[in-house]
Amino acid sequence: MSEIRSRIQELLAPIDSEMLEMNAILQAQLEDDSPAVRDMTSHVGRFSGKQLRAALVLLVAEATGRKSHEHVKVAAIVEMIHLATLVHDDVLDGAEVRRRVACVNERWDNQIAILLGDYLYSRAFGLSTTLASRLTSQLLAKTTSRLCSGEIEQSTQRYDFELTQERYEFICAAKTASLYGAACELGARVSDQAASGSFPEDDELALSMACFGEELGLAFQIIDDCLDLVGDTEVVGKSVGTDVEDGKVTLPVLHVYRSASEETRDHIRDIYTKPGIEKRAVRLRESVDLTPGLEYAKERAEELVDRAMARLDVLEDTAARRTLKSIGDFVLGRNW
Ligand code: IPE
Ligand code: IPE
Ligand code: MG
Ligand code: MG
Ligand code: MG
Repeated sequence: MSEIRSRIQELLAPIDSEMLEMNAILQAQLEDDSPAVRDMTSHVGRFSGKQLRAALVLLVAEATGRKSHEHVKVAAIVEMIHLATLVHDDVLDGAEVRRRVACVNERWDNQIAILLGDYLYSRAFGLSTTLASRLTSQLLAKTTSRLCSGEIEQSTQRYDFELTQERYEFICAAKTASLYGAACELGARVSDQAASGSFPEDDELALSMACFGEELGLAFQIIDDCLDLVGDTEVVGKSVGTDVEDGKVTLPVLHVYRSASEETRDHIRDIYTKPGIEKRAVRLRESVDLTPGLEYAKERAEELVDRAMARLDVLEDTAARRTLKSIGDFVLGRNW
């Protein structure tokens, strides 16, 4: 585990001091007068996760030569929104472990988790109002509503084995890639200047960085869905198997299902739906050969990362650009 963690620490070493500043802002936002709230925010603030989204804000700012004084704060806001989505997502998925500790819904209950998620969203958007321009809040509000609609759409498509890959990716893009895209777009767009109206539509560099983030984020979610099937909670640091447990039919399974015999299809559906089955994901991977589906998903993620990497060609060869490239490899090879 420490080996895996040190890989990301090593990767982000060039922005170490900014990440420290970003974390100081984040921690300050977890302060509250209420001891009950403090108890909860310190629980979720104890383990930080990979902080990839915050790092992307800072790295894109650096790599595009558009770094401003506001970027660190924007990175903290993005990371807080991400944290809020995780607290809510764990309720939706009935998860028990997050970032190696009990989820809020497990340590307390669903009601508390919903309220704490709301609390984190409002602190994040409150902080965004202190930026020089309101355009960041505008973009993040749009992103957050897209993210929520992705989670809502996913909930309505549970147990749908006829889901097309296109639809699956549409949902993943909304729920996950959206925030990656926004992080990278803001890296390129944020400045210290007050501005009104909306971000310029002809800023090709910012639009390329948004596409870079979206493609990387979609790959990230596809790999995540593979980890949910074959990963180990000890390594991944969060509950795994919840997609199968909760009827979320993901790309590796969809691929296997679509080329399976009628008999295997019935078997797969039974594992997802028959009452009383324990550890459904384990049952699935022990009774069905998921290898072709996992390979297919990995190839799709590789294709997306390649596409994302090509977006970086417009940037000068700097240390920040090289780090962005290494993040692409990290996303594909990650096991947490
Ligand atoms: C988890 O994201 C949620 C998904 C979109 C799959 P991360 O894996 O980036 O979570 P942390 O922040 O590192 O814990
Ligand atoms: C969640 O996707 C995406 C979010 C918007 C948080 P998952 O449900 O796969 O994320 P994990 O696996 O719980 O981190
Ligand atoms: Mg989840
Ligand atoms: Mg989920
Ligand atoms: Mg997952």
